[in-house]
Amino acid sequence: MRKITLSTLGIILLASLAGCGKSGDSAGGGDKAAAASSGEMIKFVTTQDGSPLTIKAELFDTAEAKEFMTTGKNPYIGNQDAIAKGKKLFQLYSCTQCHGADAQGQVGPNLTGPNYNYAKDATNKGMFETVWHGTNGGMGAKGKGLMDPTDPSNGLSPDELLKIIAWIRSHGTATGNES
Ligand code: HEC
Repeated sequence: MRKITLSTLGIILLASLAGCGKSGDSAGGGDKAAAASSGEMIKFVTTQDGSPLTIKAELFDTAEAKEFMTTGKNPYIGNQDAIAKGKKLFQLYSCTQCHGADAQGQVGPNLTGPNYNYAKDATNKGMFETVWHGTNGGMGAKGKGLMDPTDPSNGLSPDELLKIIAWIRSHGTATGNES
């Protein structure tokens, strides 16, 4: 009687372990899909000291900006219309004055890579954070509401910044979406 109980238990245990592995896998996939569709914002950090960077969700006001907000990937990479607009915005926001007409560097560093003052700028999320909130070494924040504290409407929207980054990447070999 006792023997039977033990082996029955063993079988139940094995069966539940096998079941566990299976349900674990599918739950993992489910979680991922849920996160992608939940529209939850990824965590942004400042380039100054890596502290949390809060950006209002409503500023991500285009489908592309929303995609970036939830994935950290820039959907405008390689998009010729966006790149052309990014070039104009780079001039409009005076980036050219410090970084040169082709982002090749002037007073400010070359932006086309592959080497950066801040290694994270090799990724689009990293470069976005650097431009949005500025650096400790000579570049002020350019994000909406941060560029001119007396005028909250001043500064780049996330969508504009993604287009600028797409233009910057069009000069280099990496897309910035790799990692
Ligand atoms: C007043 C001059 C000035 C202007 C205008 C300016 N920058 Fe900068 N930028 C700098 C300097 C100086 C640095 C180097 C800062 C540092 O190392 O901390 C820099 C750094 C950067 C970096 C980081 C580069 C790296 O090597 O990691 C990026 C990206 C960048 N700027 C993009 C932009 C964009 C986009 C604009 C326009 C919206 C802009 N900058 C406008 C001066 C400027």
